[in-house]
Amino acid sequence: MRKVLITGGAGFIGSNFVLHIRKTHPADRLIVLDKLTYAGNLENLKSLQEGPLYRFVKGDINDAAFVDSLFADEGIDTVVNFAAESHVDRSILGPRDFIETNIMGTFNLLETARKHWLTAGKTEGKRFLHVSTDEVYGSLGPTGLFTEETAYSPNSPYAASKASSDHLVRAYFHTYGLPVVTTNCSNNYGPYQFPEKLIPLMVINALKGKPLPVYGDGQNVRDWLYVEDHCSAIDIVLKKGALGETYNVGGRNEKKNIDIVKLVCSFVDERASAKALKEEYPFEGSREKLITFVKDRPGHDRRYAIDCTKMEKELGWSPAHCFEDGIRKTIDWYIENRHWWERIISGEYTKYYSLQYSGRFIKTER
Ligand code: NAD
Ligand code: TYD
Repeated sequence: MRKVLITGGAGFIGSNFVLHIRKTHPADRLIVLDKLTYAGNLENLKSLQEGPLYRFVKGDINDAAFVDSLFADEGIDTVVNFAAESHVDRSILGPRDFIETNIMGTFNLLETARKHWLTAGKTEGKRFLHVSTDEVYGSLGPTGLFTEETAYSPNSPYAASKASSDHLVRAYFHTYGLPVVTTNCSNNYGPYQFPEKLIPLMVINALKGKPLPVYGDGQNVRDWLYVEDHCSAIDIVLKKGALGETYNVGGRNEKKNIDIVKLVCSFVDERASAKALKEEYPFEGSREKLITFVKDRPGHDRRYAIDCTKMEKELGWSPAHCFEDGIRKTIDWYIENRHWWERIISGEYTKYYSLQYSGRFIKTER
C-alpha cells in the first residue's frame, strides 16, 4: 500500500488524477495537499470520504514546517506534484505567484523528500513524480515535434517557472540520487477545467451566447489530450518510468485554435438545440457568429506538438480518447454540471474573472 501525497489535487488535472488513482489503486492511501487558490475546488473531490484511504489537507507546498510534518506523520513514500499556478495569461499579468509556487514550492517539496528519504537512507519504494508541461520547450515552426531531447526554451513566465522547477527536479536526481521522474504533457481538456482556459471558456460562452475571444489570428496550434489520458500516463510513469528520466505525453492531436472554437460552436449548437436544453440556452443561428478576434497574447507561442514515442514504446501507453469523443464528453459534462461553473463565473470568483478578461473583448481590425 503506497502513501501518496498528491499536491494540487483539488485543481483540474490533480482532481481527475485523484479520482483515477482511487479506482486503479483502491488500497493506496491518498493525501491531497492543496492551497485552494482560485483554481482549487473541493467540490471536485466531494465523492471521496475522509478515512484510512483518503485525507484532504489545506496547505501551501511552500510551507516548509507544514510539509515536513506531513511527511513525518504520514510516512509519505510517493509524491505526485501537480500544485502550480497554471495559466499563461495570469503569469503575464503577475508572475510572482508563479515563481513562488512553481519554483520555490517545488524546491521545498524536493528538500523535504530529500530529508525524509535520503538522510534516512531509505529510497527503496520511494518516488517523486513532477508533473510538467510541453511549454518548457518554447515554440515550434510549422514542422517538427518536441522530443525529450529538445532544448528548453521557455517564453512565458509560466513556462519559465515550470522549466526552472524541471531543472531542480533533474538536479536532485543527479546530485543527491533522489528517485524522481518528470512528465511533460501537452494541453489538457475535460471535466473540472477552470473556465479561464480555452476549451471550457468557449463551451460556457457558447452556451450562454457570449463573445468567443480568439487571440490574434487564431492560427496558433496546440496538441490536445483528454485529461483522463494524461492521468493514465502519470499512473504508468509512476509505476514503470525509469528514475531520472523525463517522458513527453501528448495526443498526436494538433489543432488550430480557430478550428477548435468552430468545432465547439457546432457541437454546442447541436446539443443545445435538443428540446430539453432549448429554453435553458436559447440561440438563433450558428454560434460561430460569436467568434470575436481580440488582441493577441504577448509572446504567444505559435505551435506546440509532442512526440510521445518514448511513452508508447517504453511504457506501452497510448491515449484512449479521440478528440471528437473527448470534446463531446467535455461539452456534456459542462452542460450537466452547470452549478459547478455558475459558481465560478459569479459570486466570489467574479473579481478574478473580470480582471482576467477586462480589455480582452476588443474587436481588432481584421
Ligand atoms: P490548476 O490551476 O487547475 O490546479 C492547480 C492546483 O494547485 C489548484 O488546486 C491550486 O489550488 C493548487 N495550488 C496552487 N498553488 C499551490 C500551493 N502553493 N500549494 C498547494 N497547492 C497549490 O492546474 P492544472 O491545469 O490542473 O495543472 C496541474 C499541473 O499540470 C500543473 O503543474 C501544470 O503546470 C501541469 N500541466 C497542465 C497542463 C494543462 O493543460 N492544464 C498541461 C501540462 C501540464
Ligand atoms: P490556454 O488554454 O490558455 O492554454 P496555453 O496557453 O497554456 O496553451 O490557451 C490555449 C490556446 O488558446 C492559446 O494559443 C491561447 C488561445 N486562447 C484564445 O485564443 N482565447 C482565449 O480566450 C484563451 C483563454 C486562449
